[in-house]
Amino acid sequence: MSLLRDHDLARAFDHASRTYDSLTSLNPGYHTDLLRSARRLGLPDGGAGLHLLDIGCGTGASTRALLRAAPRARITAVDASAGMLRRALAKPWPARVRFLHLTAEELATAGEGPFDAVFAAYLFRNVTDPDAVLRSVRSLLRPGGRLTAHEYSLSGSRVHRALWTAVCHGLVIPAGTLLGDRALYRHLWHSVLAFDTAPAFAARLGRTGLTSVRVAPVAGWQTGIVHTFLARNGGTPTARKDEQ
Ligand SMILES: C[S@@+](CC[C@H](N)C(=O)[O-])C[C@H]1O[C@@H](n2cnc3c(N)ncnc32)[C@H](O)[C@@H]1O
Repeated sequence: MSLLRDHDLARAFDHASRTYDSLTSLNPGYHTDLLRSARRLGLPDGGAGLHLLDIGCGTGASTRALLRAAPRARITAVDASAGMLRRALAKPWPARVRFLHLTAEELATAGEGPFDAVFAAYLFRNVTDPDAVLRSVRSLLRPGGRLTAHEYSLSGSRVHRALWTAVCHGLVIPAGTLLGDRALYRHLWHSVLAFDTAPAFAARLGRTGLTSVRVAPVAGWQTGIVHTFLARNGGTPTARKDEQ
């Protein structure tokens, strides 16, 4: 399998950053699904007084969803790709939102945090050691803080696996090839097949010591292909509103 990791993956995203927003806008539900996952954090009072972290923020689509779900929160958004970050920074943001060029692996020692909630959209499948990143996320979360991971993680059904491969070969990889980003979009296909199924990722979250782990589906054609994962860092909750 042709998986890209670390520096190679960041360079591939640097190149793809030029067309990333155009491609994702062709995916029906991309932004709606991100918003629904961000709202599933259940942050009270529009996030007033809370500090949130968006890991793997890319061109800012997930950051925008987080901001809409918690318009009064302070948000730190990080990404490994300078090119993706440049696209994010070119957009208008309130002063409460800041972007940092940091990898998920660097976060624990970067002196950032603690955070009341962490959002990670399409990140974990891309990292070399998801357990290490999850341990780091846990160390950055306040007691009771919440993690929402929005991820391509297959249900385990052969139908969803076949549908994913059909969409990649019929649409995603040809479009990516035309744009000069074939390696990245083949990585997207392979990385989803190679990553945990939704039950396996939920179990991984539990093994890291996160509690109250829940999995929720997304709507539309990505049902069974993308899931929202919700978990808590034990302790007293800072986010009390029930998940939606
Ligand atoms: C598929 S994009 C998703 C971007 C954004 N979250 C969204 O929902 O549109 C994945 C992003 O994760 C970033 N990424 C991948 N591995 C990373 C890592 N180890 N640390 C930080 N960012 C990483 C990539 O650079 C890319 O911008």
